[in-house]
Amino acid sequence: MRQLVKYLESEKAKGRSHVLLDEDARQALRKLANSSKSAPKSNSTASAPSAAATSKAPSLTKHEAKNANAFGLTAISSSLPKSEQLTQLEEQVRTWPSGDFPQRLRQTMVFSSGNPESRVMLIGEAPGHEEEKALRPFVGPAGKKLDQILEAMGLKRDETYTTNIVKFRPATARQTTNNRKPTTEEVAAFIPVIREEIRIVAPQCIVALGATALEALLGTDSTVASERGRWHDFEGIPLRVTYHPSYLLQTGENLSVKRMLWEDMLAVMEKLGMEISTKQRGYFLPNP
Ligand code: URA
Repeated sequence: MRQLVKYLESEKAKGRSHVLLDEDARQALRKLANSSKSAPKSNSTASAPSAAATSKAPSLTKHEAKNANAFGLTAISSSLPKSEQLTQLEEQVRTWPSGDFPQRLRQTMVFSSGNPESRVMLIGEAPGHEEEKALRPFVGPAGKKLDQILEAMGLKRDETYTTNIVKFRPATARQTTNNRKPTTEEVAAFIPVIREEIRIVAPQCIVALGATALEALLGTDSTVASERGRWHDFEGIPLRVTYHPSYLLQTGENLSVKRMLWEDMLAVMEKLGMEISTKQRGYFLPNP
């Protein structure tokens, strides 16, 4: 607990406006908050985090807190085949929002697709309208762009393992085809799931597509622009952050964004020991 408080205070000192906490850390903070409510008031602040530090943690509504507590994943045996472990994880997540948690997520789960034995794991944000219909991640316009990127690398989608941080489409009022970004709380709720999924797939490298995956996996609210272009580490697995394919589409396939995304993918190919032709190395360079 002391370490957690120290961590929050140091993040605050660095000017971080919020942090993501896993369920254990949240429970510890809840305990602390409850015990300080019942404890007699004292002038000492030495053992309690400052109000400002604790307020940086994502605040759950009563409804969400109740359900987040309920989201205790049952341990899955690592001696089972990966596909069986993933099926078990999927089933746990499928039954988790029974009822209405979080109120702002829809009920249809879109878990993952591809090869659980793949050496590369691609992680996006959340399913949208098209993905919810198909029950597969990345099938809409962003998914088609992703397929083109993979094809340029010499990979087929089914040779990768593709998933999202949030496994249910974020809901909006009178929703039709419109999609929204998941909130920080929705993202935080799924962190135990993606951690378990990564443990099961154990890829040789992870590609975090966009800011939501970056935030969830590296626990930072930094931008893709500042975190891309180098390797990060996710519990011993090399992780590359790059632009989300939908960002590339939003920019009208801006050549410099395309090249930056491609350079991240070239780095992934190198990491996987894939052969890279001179032609591939030169893709999306500005014309001389
Ligand atoms: N965007 C994502 O991040 N994931 C999808 O599955 C589709 C679009």
